[in-house]
Amino acid sequence: MVNLAESRKVSFHTPGHKSGKGISTRFRKFVGPKIFTIDLTTLDEVDCLQRPVGVIKEAQELAAEAYGADHSFFLINGTTGGNHAMILSTASPGDEILIARNAHKSILTGIILSGAIPRFFLPTFDHELGMLLNVTVEEVGRTIAQHTKAKALSLTSPNYYGVTADLRAIVSMAKRRGILVLMDEAHGPHLHFHPRLPVSALDAGVDLCVQSTHKILGGMTQSSMLHLKGSDIDHPRVVKQLLLLQSTSPSYILMASLDLARMQMATEGEKLLSKAIDLANDARDRINRIPGLSCFGEADLRGRDFFLDVTKLTVCVKELGLSGFEVSAILNAEFGIQVEMADLFNILVIVSIGDRRDDLDRLVAALDSVAGRGARPQSRQAIPFLLPPLGQQFHLPPRDAFFAPSEHLPLAKAEGRISADIITIYPPGVPVLVPGEEVGSSAIDYLRSLASYGARIDGVLELDEPQIRVVRD
Ligand SMILES: Cc1ncc(COP(=O)(O)O)c(C=O)c1O
Repeated sequence: MVNLAESRKVSFHTPGHKSGKGISTRFRKFVGPKIFTIDLTTLDEVDCLQRPVGVIKEAQELAAEAYGADHSFFLINGTTGGNHAMILSTASPGDEILIARNAHKSILTGIILSGAIPRFFLPTFDHELGMLLNVTVEEVGRTIAQHTKAKALSLTSPNYYGVTADLRAIVSMAKRRGILVLMDEAHGPHLHFHPRLPVSALDAGVDLCVQSTHKILGGMTQSSMLHLKGSDIDHPRVVKQLLLLQSTSPSYILMASLDLARMQMATEGEKLLSKAIDLANDARDRINRIPGLSCFGEADLRGRDFFLDVTKLTVCVKELGLSGFEVSAILNAEFGIQVEMADLFNILVIVSIGDRRDDLDRLVAALDSVAGRGARPQSRQAIPFLLPPLGQQFHLPPRDAFFAPSEHLPLAKAEGRISADIITIYPPGVPVLVPGEEVGSSAIDYLRSLASYGARIDGVLELDEPQIRVVRD
């Protein structure tokens, strides 16, 4: 890419800005001129993502080698695109697929695209921590035994909070039964590169896994990777699905960022991650010393089926009488600190190879200041303990419900109807309702209560009273 940019060839091809000469002045002033010279299109010199034979092929092979995969694929539509490819590569219409219900909505949209039949099972909800952890080996075993025709098992590990399932045990159990294991490892592209982090999906032996290189490592936003391992997956089918799903004009800037993020991890990953791990652990200790706050660590999961990526800091604020949403807003407005996510009880902080000690010092000082304001007893009472109402009754396959004749109803009037859309609280994007599922009163109460605390309901029409699309009777 650099060679091509520096060769200053005359371009009579796309992109229309012609190496930045036609770009808006305001844009060029802010980012500088250079970036536009590597905003390229598919040319012989820089290879073709749809049929890689040159530098993209080589970059993907290096990625496979670094991650311990047999084949790696660059994704320019995020992990969403990779999850779609993963589902479409393994499940045809009518095929059963076992899905842990802490799945991101992109797994469900993959199910809608494929016409597969999901068989959901539930992750463990931890009442002490007030959050969904991950799936237990026992629950996966029970689900596999119940659905003997299932083709694949789809898991999400780590979850948003960095909690992983016992992947080695689960994968070996699934393999013994001839079930393919698909992993949404959006939050785990770094795991393979440090011995103090939980085992990565590929190291545990999964067949396919998708990682958001852009979420945790040095990939630019939208850049992810799909990895394939072993011979149980139909490799040409994966390639076909990616051809179907991905743009024919992939961004070379995104692809270069994937290649360099891979290089960074392969050459100095352990050193960079050691620093992030130390910073996170030190901040965790300091936060745990602040009265009214707690931040769980590896010891809290010991002896259970779960492991923790310690670079995630989940700070529980419920003792302050404030919701996580409120603390997140205070940190942003008053301290200029933006966290990854908030829920009713927690804020979630991602510590990565990009953080410095100063950043963590600033976070700890801000949390200390917020906690020092004292609890507000009236709001403490007002925050109820809300369980996500996962696992309502299914009446239709998701694809059928999604495409069925439908109508919009205010949430409060939708009880007993069949949802036609995926409804989530975003982030984290874990579906509260899936197309085909009955809209129960607990789901309605859950969504309305969380919205009243500042959560964003995704998948509804945002009117005064959110409207949900349901299947017409
Ligand atoms: C577990 C999980 N999977 C998939 C995605 C989608 O990833 P992307 O934003 O890269 O499309 C997300 C996004 O938050 C996620 O949390």
